[in-house]
Amino acid sequence: MLFRQLFDTKSSTYTYLIASAKGREALIIDPVEENVDEYVNHLKELDLKLVKVIDTHIHADHVTGASKLKNNTNCSTVMGENSPAETVDIRLKDEETIEIDQLKIKALYTPGHTSDSYSFLMNNYLFSGDTLLINGTGRTDFQNGSSKDAYNSLFNKLLKLPEETILYPGHDYNGKKSSTIGNEKKFNPRLQVDSVDQYIEIMSNLKLSKPKMIDTNVSRNLMLGSI
Ligand code: FE2
Repeated sequence: MLFRQLFDTKSSTYTYLIASAKGREALIIDPVEENVDEYVNHLKELDLKLVKVIDTHIHADHVTGASKLKNNTNCSTVMGENSPAETVDIRLKDEETIEIDQLKIKALYTPGHTSDSYSFLMNNYLFSGDTLLINGTGRTDFQNGSSKDAYNSLFNKLLKLPEETILYPGHDYNGKKSSTIGNEKKFNPRLQVDSVDQYIEIMSNLKLSKPKMIDTNVSRNLMLGSI
């Protein structure tokens, strides 16, 4: 398997390029529009054919590169079935699997950060979008976010995965690249709660400012970034 973790410095977004070494088919998770040329260069350098591009959810802090990649490579766009974006080619249900050559990627519906948030599991790699971050969790104060749903997605779904599952989040603001489910269970301060009510209280007291350009980003992402 080929794997590259790419970083967008402006939005601190992680983008993942995954490919089967055999059939040369590739998948990109959470591309950023401004970096599409860089992704295309990676694909060329590794002699890969991009077949699918996944957005874990409708992002508020950057514009997805999905449409631009589709125009460039003719790949299919993929999101969970709860996505409000109308132009998605493949809409996955909870627990549904897609394949890239012999690699299997399973969609897990993990609402809370937004109502359309999915995580993706490939073997023991978990791409959690903004549902679970390293030492943090996704905010729940816009785009139909719900702290109660987030608690359920975290405690009844992602944290039930084997402790050695490697966590690859959608963002990191402190230079961390990966973690494990076991580490997050033990050390993530947001997860050291005894009840859903306690989690809701923590999330309602965060007092975060709105992301810059949220309205433009969301409206463009509802069309997967096409202009
Ligand atoms: Fe997000």
